[in-house]
Amino acid sequence: MKSVGDVPERKLSKTEPPPVVLTSELRKVYRTGFFLNQKIVSLKSCSLKVYRGETFGLLGQNGAGKTTLFKVLLGIVRPTGGRGLLLGKPLGDRAVKQRIGYLPENTYLYEYLTGWEFLQLTAGIFQIPSKVQRHRIPELLELVGLSLADAKKKQMRRYSKGMLQRVGMAQALINDPELIFLDEPMSGLDPVGRYQMREIILTLKAAGKTIFFNSHILSEVEKICDRIAILSQGELICSGSINDLLGTANTYRVKGQGGDWEVLSNWLPNIEFLADGSWQGELHGDVYDFLASLRLMGGQIMAMNLFRPSLEEFFMEQVRERKNS
Ligand SMILES: Nc1ncnc2c1ncn2[C@@H]1O[C@H](COP(=O)(O)OP(=O)(O)O)[C@@H](O)[C@H]1O
Ligand SMILES: [Mg+2]
Repeated sequence: MKSVGDVPERKLSKTEPPPVVLTSELRKVYRTGFFLNQKIVSLKSCSLKVYRGETFGLLGQNGAGKTTLFKVLLGIVRPTGGRGLLLGKPLGDRAVKQRIGYLPENTYLYEYLTGWEFLQLTAGIFQIPSKVQRHRIPELLELVGLSLADAKKKQMRRYSKGMLQRVGMAQALINDPELIFLDEPMSGLDPVGRYQMREIILTLKAAGKTIFFNSHILSEVEKICDRIAILSQGELICSGSINDLLGTANTYRVKGQGGDWEVLSNWLPNIEFLADGSWQGELHGDVYDFLASLRLMGGQIMAMNLFRPSLEEFFMEQVRERKNS
C-alpha cells in the first residue's frame, strides 16, 4: 500500500500489542450476471491494522468498497483472496462474533416490533439472560438517547431515521462488544442527529472500545478519528493519523515584495502581483530554501501563514491524484 509522503506505516514491534483488526492483501471479486460471468472487483489488495482503543475511520466515495470490507471482516461474505484476523482469530470465527458489534449501513429492522422488542430479540441471539437484559436495555436506550416510552410503545415503522439509527446503535452494543463496526453511522441524520451520534461514539471511545467506522461525512470523521484510511476503487491509497496525513500536505501562504518575478513564479506557481507592487502566493518547496533565495534576490517577506488543508480537501486531492495516475 502506498503511504503518503514520509508517513511511516506502524510496524509491529515486540512491545506493541497485536492489532485488533489485521488484514493482509484482502481481495473480493463479486460474480454477477446470469451465468455469473461478470466480475466486479470490490477490494483489490487491502492491508491495514487497527489497534485496541483506536477510533479508525475508513473513508471513500460511494462504491469504493467500504461496506464490502466490513462484510468480509465480519464473515458475512468470503474473501476471494488475502487474509484477515479479528481479535487474533481468523475471519468468521464464531467465538469472536460474540465480542463484536455491528451497525449495518441499511439497518434491517422488523418494523412491526417496538424498539424494546427488537433489542430483546437481539439480546436473545447472544443468549443474554433476561435478568441482564432488564438493566442492559434501558442503559443502552439512555446511551443512544431513545426514550423508554418510544422504545416500549411505538412500533419501529413509526420511528424517524434518527430513531432507527439509535435502535440500530443499541443493537450493535447489546453484547457489550469490545470491537464495534459502524457502517455509515451518520448518514441520513440531520446536524443534531449527527452531533448526538458523534457524542455516542466519543462515549464508547472513552470507555476503551475499539471503533472501526466508515463514512463519507468527512467533517465528522475529522472530529472523532485517531487514524484514517482512504479507500478508492477497492484500493487503500493511504492511512495514518489525521495529523500525520494533513501535516505532510502543509503549505505556506506567502506575501512579500521585491525579487525576480521569474524566480518567484517557480517557487509560487499561482503567484499574484498586486497593485501596490507586492505579491502573494502558495509556496511549493522547502521554506528555508525559498527564504534564502528571496534574500539573495533582495526581496522581503510581509506575511507568511501555515495553511493546513481540511480533511475534505486532502481527501479530494488524494482521490483525484489516484484517478489521474
Ligand atoms: N453483492 C454484490 N454483488 C455484486 N457487486 C457488489 C455486491 N456488493 C457490492 N458490490 C459492488 O462492489 C463495489 C463496492 O461496493 P460497496 O462495498 O457497497 O461500496 P461502498 O460501501 O464504499 O459504497 C460496488 O461496485 C458495488 O456495486
Ligand atoms: Mg457502503
